[in-house]
Amino acid sequence: MPRLSLEGLAWEAGRAFRLADIDLQVGAQEFVGLIGPNGSGKSSLLHCAWRLHQPTAGQVRLDGQDLWQQSARWSARRMAVVQQEFPQDFGLRVLDVVHLGRAPHKGLFEGHSAADLALVEQALQRTGLHEYGVRLFASLSGGEKQRVLLARALVQQPELLILDEPTNHLDPRYQLQLLQLLRRLKLATLASFHDLNLAAAFCDRLYVLCDGRLIASGTPTEVLTAELLLDVFGVQALVDTHPRAPHPRITWITHA
Ligand SMILES: Nc1ncnc2c1ncn2[C@@H]1O[C@H](COP(=O)(O)OP(=O)(O)O)[C@@H](O)[C@H]1O
Ligand SMILES: [Mg+2]
Repeated sequence: MPRLSLEGLAWEAGRAFRLADIDLQVGAQEFVGLIGPNGSGKSSLLHCAWRLHQPTAGQVRLDGQDLWQQSARWSARRMAVVQQEFPQDFGLRVLDVVHLGRAPHKGLFEGHSAADLALVEQALQRTGLHEYGVRLFASLSGGEKQRVLLARALVQQPELLILDEPTNHLDPRYQLQLLQLLRRLKLATLASFHDLNLAAAFCDRLYVLCDGRLIASGTPTEVLTAELLLDVFGVQALVDTHPRAPHPRITWITHA
């Protein structure tokens, strides 16, 4: 059974935009990428997957359970989200932000247990933030904030991770570090990507969204063809195999 399954899903933002006929699965331990042009509906689809938007048709299933038949707390114990936007932080330190990830597993006024502290420490180590604990979240760079939010997601101990363009604020070193970390976690992961070469290098499978519909899916090699890139993004590209790895490499043709 897939960990996450969207079945015949539809969602509408007024008359302006509609997601329709969305069928998508993420298996346990599978790293699935979602790609598509700006405005194609990637964020909207992820919002449906993590219970922010209620679909107008179809279903979202987590471990076979209909998400909307379960409580928000039930899903927060099983899935964690790293959104594109940074939250308002109200003067929180990095440690405080990361501890928030434990909330779904605790009572309202329950303090930090030794186990919570150990999880937070481990997440800060894994994201290269062990020296940042007492820094104010607001004082961090975009890339550092992104890593804090991943640390918060990790302490949630999710079965499924959803990330919206997680590498956008990061320089190449941290892009690779974050994606390598995600792969090592071996969680079911659904992430949207702008950088198609990163998606090609790290994802087991890709789904391509265009005008609110999924128009292709498969391994990066199956999906990322020059023909599809021209069709969907309107850009010419050379696609070959990376010289040091068995995944496709995209080189944009910038001079006709
Ligand atoms: N809550 C909303 N209300 C109105 N329009 C929305 C809403 N959310 C998204 N949209 C519109 O839906 C379209 C898809 O947006 P989005 O899902 O953010 O695409 P992407 O993440 O692929 O860039 C855009 O045209 C956007 O303006
Ligand atoms: Mg988006």
